[in-house]
Amino acid sequence: MSTAVAHPNIALVKYWGKRDDALIIPATGSLSLTLDVFPTTTVVDLDGSADADEILFDGVPATGTAAARITAFLDLVRALAGSSHRARVDTRNSVPTGAGLASSASGFAALAVAAADAYGLALDERALSRLARRGSGSACRSIIGGTAIWHAGTDDATSFAEPIAGPDLGMVIAVVDAGAKAVSSREAMRRTRETSPYADAWERAAAADLVAMQAAFAAGDVAGIGELTESNALRMHAAIMGSRPPIRYLAPTSVALFDAAARLRAHGLEAYATADAGPNVVFVCAAADVDIVRDALTADIATGRLIAAHAGPGAHLVEASA
Ligand code: DP6
Repeated sequence: MSTAVAHPNIALVKYWGKRDDALIIPATGSLSLTLDVFPTTTVVDLDGSADADEILFDGVPATGTAAARITAFLDLVRALAGSSHRARVDTRNSVPTGAGLASSASGFAALAVAAADAYGLALDERALSRLARRGSGSACRSIIGGTAIWHAGTDDATSFAEPIAGPDLGMVIAVVDAGAKAVSSREAMRRTRETSPYADAWERAAAADLVAMQAAFAAGDVAGIGELTESNALRMHAAIMGSRPPIRYLAPTSVALFDAAARLRAHGLEAYATADAGPNVVFVCAAADVDIVRDALTADIATGRLIAAHAGPGAHLVEASA
């Protein structure tokens, strides 16, 4: 029995668009902070006599696309390990699934670490990152603790995440809606690339943003990091909104929270907003300012919907197989 824990990550420069759908090679690189909240815990146990994988999400058997994605991922691990054993996967999430809070990232990062151990694969951090990427692109960054850069690469070997040094950052998550999103990021990403007239411009801009972000990290420039983060997120959402049929993840409350970030800055607080494929808004600031930023936002959203977060650990085993 192998048990692993992983945490979600929030991108400061977003991944949005695949160059290779099968291998999940992104069109551009991205950069993120792995958080210390909302862990996913996954147990993988091999069963030599079963003829199918058994997959439980919070104790409930998984079905449909979700189950198919896990089985396809386990097939990859089995191919690497030269094994035909089926597995029992028991995964517990403390993040609202499908709410744009990156649950697929913590989910596939924890599964990659637990499954690699269960099937006897000795993988280093880079290899685990490449493996997690095959489950969900952003999961490759949750293998890494703290701030991570995912090099887009051009093939399976060159597309991986690794740590990147920078200032201590924190985040405040504003939960606008904890329900599942209408269009998955996988589908929306594909639709953006195929139908949005802004997809090419987004990819060019994201590549340039990543270069600028690395410079801001090297300089320890929190304001520069924040400005790039907010602008990069809005550029991604602009490209998404240009899809046909259109997709719009930002709700009126989400937009108001971007205004709240501007208001905080007008009062001298360095806080910047970002949002993934959902209506929730995440504020980025210096780690030391997290509590002040959270308290300053209670005028905009209920206290119970604000979660303070800091840099968290990379995906790791908590119990190794015998
Ligand atoms: C908006 O990693 O969920 O959160 O690779 O298709 O599984 P797949 O997509 P996924 O997309 C994440 C999109 C994002 C931006 C980001 O995390 O960089």
